[in-house]
Formats: sequence, structure tokens, C-alpha cells
Amino acid sequence: MADHERVMEKIVSLCKRRGFVYQGSEIYGGLAGTWDYGPLGAELVDNIKNCWWKKFLYDREDIYKINAAILMNPGVWEASGHVSGFADPLASGKLFNTMFKTSAGAGEDAATVYLRPETAGGIFVNFKNVVDSFHPKLPFGIGQIGKAFRNEIAPRDFIFRVRELEQMEIEYFVRPEEWEQKFEEWRRGVHEFMEMVGIAKKSVHELEVLDGERAHYSKRTIDFEFDFPFGRKELCGLAYRTDFDLSAHEKASTVELKYQDPDTNKKFTPHVIEPSFGVERTFLAVLVSAYTEDTLGGETRVYLKFKPSVAPIKAAVFPLLKNKPELVNKAREIYTELKKDIPQIMWDDNGNVGKRYRRQDEIGTPYCITIDFQTLEDNTVTIRDRDTGEQERVSAADLSTTLWKNLKT
Ligand code: GAP
Repeated sequence: MADHERVMEKIVSLCKRRGFVYQGSEIYGGLAGTWDYGPLGAELVDNIKNCWWKKFLYDREDIYKINAAILMNPGVWEASGHVSGFADPLASGKLFNTMFKTSAGAGEDAATVYLRPETAGGIFVNFKNVVDSFHPKLPFGIGQIGKAFRNEIAPRDFIFRVRELEQMEIEYFVRPEEWEQKFEEWRRGVHEFMEMVGIAKKSVHELEVLDGERAHYSKRTIDFEFDFPFGRKELCGLAYRTDFDLSAHEKASTVELKYQDPDTNKKFTPHVIEPSFGVERTFLAVLVSAYTEDTLGGETRVYLKFKPSVAPIKAAVFPLLKNKPELVNKAREIYTELKKDIPQIMWDDNGNVGKRYRRQDEIGTPYCITIDFQTLEDNTVTIRDRDTGEQERVSAADLSTTLWKNLKT
């Protein structure tokens, strides 16, 4: 087995063993292209999403959050070109539309509807609503995180190509003449976000998608590729969608989807820059970037070098010995207090302290806090750093402040 295959196998096995990712419907033999996040995976997903919102919504003033329905009027997907064009070639030469179909309503009234293949559709149909509610000035964006579905012919490579996925998308509306400048700004933003969640910079490569290979709506696309263990593949994309979508939805719905310049009163259709991330691929790139094997204290160890912002568990709290009630009670007290300030905290009293450190390293917990006999005397605890294995003694009274400070740096 080649080295890269071994790494992938180890990551998949760690994900299952430690509760990050399980095969979907596993006890029934699974369902191809579906995966379930376990307790730690679900935390990691939420942390990635929170970083995304922080970077692209809370740290700026021009993005509006929405949460649109997955089932939409089928007219949306006819106008967007997905009904006629969202297809992959089959080996037999026929084109296969990868939108999932279902029906809404009963009996003769049942209508064919689609599970959305991208979250962008929900954003475009709410353009007018957001403009009417908030009167934003151009440029501004609408962002959404949500599930999307694609009946991929060959789902593969763990969570890389799945049938039920989640996207983090922004449609950023700009004046037609400023698209190139805004495209460059978003290009930098995409890199900054990847750095924020700990995706290894050296493994990210931009690919300018050539004419004839872009999606039907795009005049320029950059694929941001990542060196996954199974090859260099698309992690996320940045597209210039022109006024394709708003114009198409305006024509099909007969509802005007224009922007009126508040200074000149001139109406025009905004153009769109779209940064689009898949949660699964971001999750996998974060995992691959964090996966580290080294030797510590003469022993080989595997650990996930997560950035604190995405680590599913920020700190674990241990009583040195679990059969000493005075230590357990004190540790419980400290754990309960800490959890009020930092919810992603874990209690661990299983096995000896060395084993607990290894377990926490393997799930990427940045800090382990041990309550020992000295704690009972002077109210200090040890904090052990995941990456260096070094420990320092700090006051239990300042623990929350110390931890926050460490987690931020
Ligand atoms: N709204 C634009 C759009 O959907 P896309 O390149 O088709 O563009 C955007 O998808 C991102 O969604 C991809 O870069 C990838 O991260 C993710 N994605 C797409 N299909 C996927 C699949 N089958 N499994 C996992 N992620 C997928």
C-alpha cells in the first residue's frame, strides 16, 4: 500500500474509532454517498461553520444571512439551467441529471420537486426580499449554510464526494464594472478563511478553470484545489456568475430583480461573485492538515494539530486518580465552572493520565488540565500543551481566563 493510501486509511479509521464520522445507516450495510457525523465530528462541523460566519458575516457589515427551504418551486431549477444542464455523462454515453427528484403532495395533485443541488438557488430567489427588507447598498452579499443533494454517479473518497452535502455559499452582488476588483478581494478572503480553520497553505493550489470547462453560469472560475491523500482535488470554488441568475429568474418569474441606484435612480441587474465551500471537503482538508505523527517522550504518537478555533474539544479535565473522592470532587467542581465559560470541555477519568493524554492528542484537544494532590493544598492545576507536551501550573481561580488567552493565541 502506498504511503498516501495508508494515511487516508488511518484518518478514516481514526474518524470512526473516535467518533468523528460514521458510515451512514451502517447497521443496514450503509447507503452509498452518505455519512453521519459523530459527537466530535458534529462539533468540528459547527466550529468550521462558526468560523465561516465569523469571517464572512460577523467581521464585516455587508453580508445578510438567510436560511431558505430545501424544497423549492421546480421553476427555480428550470430557470437556473439545472433541469436541462445539471448532468454527468454515463458510461453508456447518455447524460444523467444528478438532481434528486421527489414529489410533493398526494395522489393526482402530487408535483415533482427537486432537492436543491446548490444552496445558491435559495439566495437568488430571496434577493428581492432582502433588498426590500434592508435596502442594502451595493456591493452586498447574501450568505447561507445548508444541505444540498446530488445524485453523484460514483460517490467516493470518504466524505469527498457525497450525495448529501452541505454548502457554505455567498452570492455577492456588485456593480458590473467592479466585478474584477471584487473577485480579487474574495480570492484573498477564500485563502484567509482556509488559514483561519488550519488548512495547510502549502497544500492549496489555484486552478483557473478554462473556457468550456466552467459551469454554464460562469464567466470566470477559480477552483481552489487541495492535496488530499488521494490526489489534488477541488476543495472550493470562486465564480463570477455575471447577471445570469438574477436575469434568468426575473424572466421566468416575471418579477423584477433589479437594483435601483439610490443616487441616480437608475435600475440595473447586479452581477454576482460567488465563493462556494463544501463543508465535507473543508472538514476533510482540516483533518488532513491536522493529522500529525511524531515522537514525544520516546513514544510515537498520532495527534490532530487542530487550530483551537476548530478543535471539537478545547480542553479536557482529569482528576489524577479516579478512586480518590477528594480529587474527583475538586475536579468536578473545576470542570463544572469551566464548562460555563467554555462549553466544548470534556471530562476524562479513564485509565492512567498518560493514556488520557494520548487519547486527547488523538482527537486534537489543545489542553489537558489535571487536578492532583497539590490542587487540594494551593488551588493550582497543571495545564498540558498538546503540541509540546509541556505542562505549567496555574491558579484554578484564573483557569478560565488563562485558557481563553491560550486558545486565542
Ligand atoms: N453554487 C456553486 C456550486 O454549487 P460547485 O463547484 O458545484 O458550485 C461548490 O460546488 C462546492 O460544493 C465544491 O467546491 C465542493 O466543496 C462542494 N461539493 C460539490 N459537490 C460535492 C459532492 N458531491 N460532495 C461533496 N462536496 C461537494
